[in-house]
Amino acid sequence: MTCRYRCGDACFHEVPNRSANEYFGDVAAAALSRRSVLKAGLVLAMAGGATAATAERVVAATEPPAGGGPGGLVFNPIQQQTNDAVVVPDGYVADVVIRWGDPLFSDAPEFDPQNQTPEAQARQFGFNNDHVGLFELDGGQFLMVVNHEYTTEPMMFPGYDAAAPTEEQVAIAWAAHGLSVVTLDGGSDGSLTPVLDAPLNRRITVTSEFEITGPAAGSEYLRTSDDPEGRTVLGTLNNCAGGLTPWGTWLTAEENFHQYFANAAAVQDAATRERLARYGVNEEASERLWETVDPRFDLGQEPNEVNRFGWIVEVDPFDPSSTPRKRTALGRFKHEAATINIAADGRAVAYMGDDERFDYLYKFVSDGTYVEGDDAHNATLLDSGTLYVARFTGDSPAEEFDGSGALPEDGEFDGSGEWIPLVSGTTSHVPGMTAEEVLVFTRLAGDAVGATKMDRPEDVEPHPETGRVYMACTNNTDRTAEEVDEANPRAENKDGHVIEIVEEGDDAAAASFAWRILLLCGSPDDPNTYFAGFDKSQVSAISCPDNLAFDPAGNLWISTDGQPGTLGWNDALYQVPLEGEARGQVRQFLSVPVGAETCGPVITEDRVLVAVQHPGEGDDVSFDNRISNWPGGGDSLPRPSVVVASAAGGPPPEDPDEDPTEEPTEDPTDDGGPGDGAGDGNDDRGGSGGGSTDQPPTRLPDTR
Ligand code: FEO
Ligand code: CA
Ligand code: CA
Repeated sequence: MTCRYRCGDACFHEVPNRSANEYFGDVAAAALSRRSVLKAGLVLAMAGGATAATAERVVAATEPPAGGGPGGLVFNPIQQQTNDAVVVPDGYVADVVIRWGDPLFSDAPEFDPQNQTPEAQARQFGFNNDHVGLFELDGGQFLMVVNHEYTTEPMMFPGYDAAAPTEEQVAIAWAAHGLSVVTLDGGSDGSLTPVLDAPLNRRITVTSEFEITGPAAGSEYLRTSDDPEGRTVLGTLNNCAGGLTPWGTWLTAEENFHQYFANAAAVQDAATRERLARYGVNEEASERLWETVDPRFDLGQEPNEVNRFGWIVEVDPFDPSSTPRKRTALGRFKHEAATINIAADGRAVAYMGDDERFDYLYKFVSDGTYVEGDDAHNATLLDSGTLYVARFTGDSPAEEFDGSGALPEDGEFDGSGEWIPLVSGTTSHVPGMTAEEVLVFTRLAGDAVGATKMDRPEDVEPHPETGRVYMACTNNTDRTAEEVDEANPRAENKDGHVIEIVEEGDDAAAASFAWRILLLCGSPDDPNTYFAGFDKSQVSAISCPDNLAFDPAGNLWISTDGQPGTLGWNDALYQVPLEGEARGQVRQFLSVPVGAETCGPVITEDRVLVAVQHPGEGDDVSFDNRISNWPGGGDSLPRPSVVVASAAGGPPPEDPDEDPTEEPTEDPTDDGGPGDGAGDGNDDRGGSGGGSTDQPPTRLPDTR
């Protein structure tokens, strides 16, 4: 069920990358170094500030780990969970902010899944929330942007017949995909409450208009019968993760778009067939059968429509009348996310992973430079620049890697790398491919220049202080022992790993980089796991790293997708210090309900937001056959929702001089923190709350 609807069973199909790119190189290492970079002041997740007072006020008994704490939120790590709830550490409470079907506008009807309509869904929060971004507004409000990656029709519609979806069901699914912009009231107790009819509230769906911009706009590969100019597209599909830019816009990534298109077998042209295969497009019918309702999803009728998806989309959430833009300069692949750093000379750099087994890491460097406050100029940055793909080279001899994950003799998986230019504006750097071919069929360009085949690059995020880049390689069980390299050192890599990249000269625009593996994920009982050299008896197990974020103290946070199938417990959210003696000490903060994936983490000084995606998903589940009833409880329908966790009793006092040792005025264990999360029907606790956290922050028992 999960794979069918999320990615079109991508991992059950043949690996699309059949290139002969090598798996291993052996050259001298470059030394890792550090840098300072600018901070994106508008982006809340990057906002600085001390948080110790908060923690001491509400979780007084907890000390940070010995040897220098990580700073940030203080908590005792929770146990692994298998229950149908959001679980957070003692001293914290978790509340639902907004659920699938909750209205964004007062003219939207109350959610009624038995009688859903496309019109209602288009005015309500969409399905399967993934990326979450938060902008701070005046007056204690926030602007939250959320992706709705995909729909799971058997769980949405009573009596759904997958062989014959109705036109109305398809139209509802179109409205449940896409994006939401939601204004939130921030409560002093840590709560976040949607504001109905706020001027910036917005839904964007599969029928909304998008502009194609950049060097491939108007390309022959992007023209269709409905859009002979190749510049206007209806809709965005499978928006996975994303990023917020320093200039106040939202980047959202079209990932497994291939699954919505049908009948590649009907395409006659051999070159087109090869390109479709490289992107894994269906030879026959699609899972959702949208091609039966709208011929643009039928490649036999519209062979170019599929080329109009697979892009990074830039949205201005502060202008609800703005047309979102598909930025062709950033290439076309199964984009997981795009995250921005600013280079030493002011150019904007976007880091991007292509989430497929054996696919690549990319970055884009703009021609223009970021100018603070000049929105019109900054809106042009992602239309002109150079797109690069990464080649990783290890510094240890190839014979030291047998696929087990055992450390090489020099004690680290590390080495150097280069950014290989693919295209600059309308100039191709790939022999045999035009610039527009490189941009529209970017995977084939990466194949041609010998990019390194990675274990499913998910989120790639530059650290807001150090500029180091962190890359989650979620897993790749197809890699054989003969195919391992130092950057992907485990065969049948079911647990994934995290790589740390340092750009040459500490410059995000550099042509080369150094790298090392930060984590080889899995159970610490597995001898072939690695936690940056930290004592494995003191860490939480973690598997399938997916989304990344940083807290204001500079710690890395990792959310996971796939732990039920590897470790045997629910997906989760972890904090990982990156500096000092605690570097590599993975500690679990949160667990999501049965069948769910943890997405979209945002970590502020006093709040942790996650998107609980696909709760209750599993084999043979349906609208009437449920394995989760989160968040409503009872026998209710599971509903994807955004959750906020905050310290019980609310955020810290704003006065930095306040004595943090002062007794709290409320019992910190009182479960009565944030009140109504989202208005009507949202005042349940979401099955959440503290628990299972009596142990000190030491070894966590394996509960398999
Ligand atoms: Fe939608 Fe790569 O996760
Ligand atoms: Ca090495
Ligand atoms: Ca993801």
